[in-house]
Amino acid sequence: MSETTAFEPRIVAFLCNWCTYTGADLAGTSRLQYPPNVRIIRTMCSSAVDPVYVLKPLLEGADGVLIGGCHPGDCHYQTGNYKTRRRYVALQEILKTSGIDARRVWLRWISASEGQKFASTVTDMVTAMKELGPNPARENWAA
Ligand code: FES
Repeated sequence: MSETTAFEPRIVAFLCNWCTYTGADLAGTSRLQYPPNVRIIRTMCSSAVDPVYVLKPLLEGADGVLIGGCHPGDCHYQTGNYKTRRRYVALQEILKTSGIDARRVWLRWISASEGQKFASTVTDMVTAMKELGPNPARENWAA
């Protein structure tokens, strides 16, 4: 079996406690099906996700990083997710200059009531990461 056919993306998801994490919880309690490729890290706000937290897993071989936060205007810390959105734009530039495919990092607004959106986002992201193939940084750590 080749590496490609066996490839299952590893995705790290930073989810804000108040919206996306609760949406993920709703997906679970609603028994919605989504791929098990995601490892969730709960943060109090999407703005707490420093770009270093995104870069580190990618440099260590994660295939994708999802940042999930409240919809614009709904952040429990007023303007946190506006900061997240500005940071995400800057992060895209950092990724490009670092040689990391910027398509590996997704930012999505998913509310506490959007369990279905969380499940479909994870499903879509796994499909997209499969199309991109394994993160080349995986090889750096394989030996
Ligand atoms: Fe959810 Fe700020 S509290 S994005």
